[in-house]
Amino acid sequence: MNKIEVQNLHFSYTANTEVLKGLNFTLDERSTAIVGQNGAGKTTFVKLLKGLLQPTSGQILFNDRNIKDISVPALAKYIGLVFQNPNDQIFKNTVLDEVMFGPLQIGMSTEKAKIASQEALGIVGLEDKEEVNPYDLGLSDRKMVSIAAILAMHTDVVIFDEPTIAQDYDGKMRLRQIIKKLTAEHKVVISILHDMDFVAQTFERVIVLAYGQVLLDSDPRSVFSKREILQNAYLEQPTTTQLCHALGYDDVFLSPSEFVNRYRTITDKSAAKD
Ligand SMILES: Nc1ncnc2c1ncn2[C@@H]1O[C@H](COP(=O)(O)OP(=O)(O)OP(=O)(O)O)[C@@H](O)[C@H]1O
Ligand SMILES: [Mg+2]
Repeated sequence: MNKIEVQNLHFSYTANTEVLKGLNFTLDERSTAIVGQNGAGKTTFVKLLKGLLQPTSGQILFNDRNIKDISVPALAKYIGLVFQNPNDQIFKNTVLDEVMFGPLQIGMSTEKAKIASQEALGIVGLEDKEEVNPYDLGLSDRKMVSIAAILAMHTDVVIFDEPTIAQDYDGKMRLRQIIKKLTAEHKVVISILHDMDFVAQTFERVIVLAYGQVLLDSDPRSVFSKREILQNAYLEQPTTTQLCHALGYDDVFLSPSEFVNRYRTITDKSAAKD
């Protein structure tokens, strides 16, 4: 089973300010959302996972191996990161070349890289855009290109930094399917997000980072029930959770359909009594 153990992880960019102040948790095959206010250290954390930064102290183990003992190119075979901004990732002139770049870099044959890339483009819904210049696509499709580029590498760990940015309803539905597919394939799926509605309806686990530490770490229903703690971390509950709380319901509802189903059960029961 793939796992990433984060042990007493500290990190500072500058001598006086510690960004991560001792993180301890294990990331496993439960799809995990990492949330936290701007500047909480989320992107810093995933850069440490990718070996792009080194911990000030503490360590990260991937399947029992210390990440610091694995070179960045070697680690790329196991851990894929979709950047927050696709423009930081994309540099080739066609969509297919862009998606094939990663697989070729980690040593896949041209033939295999092409098959993996075409499959990945199908998963993100861009199968008919192979020959298009990525910069002729809109931001949402460009983000999908950057996702396909990582999917095509078939890594055991897939990290998304803000995947819902610029995505409309269809894009978010597709992302949810991608995350579920990767989880079903027993990959470690980690995503940084600000969209609490999407988090509540998509992930099995939520880690709240605040002030360089883990404030909450549990399933979405449990995390989103902690209204005051979330407020202290400058985070909102999902919209449906807020609405149902305002209406006086004690339970935590994570989606409109969850609430509607419960409401129908209650009204059906009272209609049966009448
Ligand atoms: N290269 C850098 N040099 C110095 N400080 C940095 C650097 N990169 C980030 N920081 C600081 O580290 C802290 C954490 O930044 P980080 O980008 O990890 O936050 P984040 O949680 O990803 O925020 P956001 O939600 O805005 O993307 C912030 O205070 C930021 O200003
Ligand atoms: Mg960030």
